[in-house]
Amino acid sequence: MSTPNEQLEELFSLVTSSEKYANISPDLIREIGAKELAKRRNQKEAVKETRNKLHQVGSAYQEKPIPYTAWLDELQDLPHDLQDDTVNAALKRQMGMHASTAERLSILPHIFNDALETIAPLHSILDLACGLNPLCLPWMPAAADVEYAACDIYADMTDYLNHYFEHFKINGNAFVRDLTQSVPQMSVQVALLLKTIPCLDQVDKNAAKRLLTELQAQYILVSFPAHSLGGKSKGMLQNYENRFNLLTEGESWKITKMEFTGELAFLIEK
Ligand SMILES: C[S@@+](CC[C@H](N)C(=O)[O-])C[C@H]1O[C@@H](n2cnc3c(N)ncnc32)[C@H](O)[C@@H]1O
Repeated sequence: MSTPNEQLEELFSLVTSSEKYANISPDLIREIGAKELAKRRNQKEAVKETRNKLHQVGSAYQEKPIPYTAWLDELQDLPHDLQDDTVNAALKRQMGMHASTAERLSILPHIFNDALETIAPLHSILDLACGLNPLCLPWMPAAADVEYAACDIYADMTDYLNHYFEHFKINGNAFVRDLTQSVPQMSVQVALLLKTIPCLDQVDKNAAKRLLTELQAQYILVSFPAHSLGGKSKGMLQNYENRFNLLTEGESWKITKMEFTGELAFLIEK
């Protein structure tokens, strides 16, 4: 009979033996895995359910594997100027490989300006569960020397983002973090929590509240998707607005609501 720890380590190696999950934060895999081992009848079921959950919160947004190695080559050939047209076209093409930024492409020219112009220029940004959103920096009302921190659960993604920061001489840092287990503690002007609360809710219903209250950010831009990955939208916006209201209930924060095509946003001033 193996101990609970041994069972968890076996589950971890089985889950990560698939390339699709190999780059995901070990903390998140172990957290979901431990819960599934406690809930399911046997290890096989727990492995399957752990993979399902990891798919729902992460891989589902990457319909095809993201070709980071090819992107690194492409990056080397690009000019070092973020405002250059060829650079903008390449960044938009790359954003198209992650569902969340792909959906944002049509509103990219104005969403960040509209949502953040009252606090511009941005001097420091913490992009939480960032996906490929840091590639939107040329479309953000940011100061030239903006500090950009970004985190997600994928090591290959954060590695690519660090190369992107370096190539364009952005004062940036991307790191792997499971936000259901710990809250980044750096002090920033604005934190972005875009379209991510539903993913955190799937793993831990208390994570979003903890994040919103513990973040050391003057402002937090929170958003929710207006439709599911499958395209369904019925009642979603109302549900998400209710969820947001519950999360901010009792706080003395100033909140501004904004509606964009495909995205419902709230700017919190703490
Ligand atoms: C809907 S996407 C949003 C991506 C990005 N914020 C945007 O709006 O373009 C959700 C993101 O959350 C990340 N994620 C899921 N669970 C997470 C967790 N526990 N901690 C940190 N990031 C997580 C996923 O990998 C994915 O990139």
